[in-house]
Amino acid sequence: MTIALGVLVSGSGSNLQAIIDRVREGSIDADIRIVISNKPEALGLDRAREAGIPTACALHADFPVREDFDREVVRLLRGAGVEWVALAGFMRILTPEFLTPFAGRVVNIHPALLPACAGLHAQRQQAEHGVRLAGCTVHFVDEEMDHGPIVIQGAVPAFPGDDAESLGARILEMEHRIYPQALQWIAQGRVRVEGRQVLVDGAGRACGGPFWTNPPLESPFDR
Ligand code: GAR
Repeated sequence: MTIALGVLVSGSGSNLQAIIDRVREGSIDADIRIVISNKPEALGLDRAREAGIPTACALHADFPVREDFDREVVRLLRGAGVEWVALAGFMRILTPEFLTPFAGRVVNIHPALLPACAGLHAQRQQAEHGVRLAGCTVHFVDEEMDHGPIVIQGAVPAFPGDDAESLGARILEMEHRIYPQALQWIAQGRVRVEGRQVLVDGAGRACGGPFWTNPPLESPFDR
């Protein structure tokens, strides 16, 4: 099955690029119908144009009422025949005007291991807190920020001396792996949501052996 995907971006669009690259190589069964940004200068729009994907811009300044902005984005997505929506660095909270028409078909990537470090500047939050394991999360979007059921999380180590930039770069590499994977699971029809649990048909179970810790466990605690 090929899903008709719309991607919403506000910034550099490196996750969008990872998705475009994986679609192109045939690893995600998706047709990216449109890329929409709330910022006309978003580099993500250039990446889309370069890939020959239709783009659109909805400026929130033109829509003082949040719901009107959401209705406009829904109109653009519907016009492009979109079934599934991927938020890729889209820095706006969505209202029911958006979420109801696309109920259960909107996913987001967040640069932290939710529910830790929701909200803005997650990379900085993790670096300043001194976490040992940082990471990222692909989750379904509901009306609460960074809250919906979790599809996949990827952990990366954080080291003393890391700042938002160094940790953020490590997290971003992981984002580029887990977001395409999550979208392909969705395209394959393998993802089911039951309450807060997301079940991925046929997915393996990580950590059959010891749990991954950072710093690594030493003998004899590593067995
Ligand atoms: C990514 O790190 C993404 O996880 C984050 O914005 C960045 C966008 O980068 N999203 C959020 O913080 C949403 N709460 P990109 O434009 O290069 O993909």
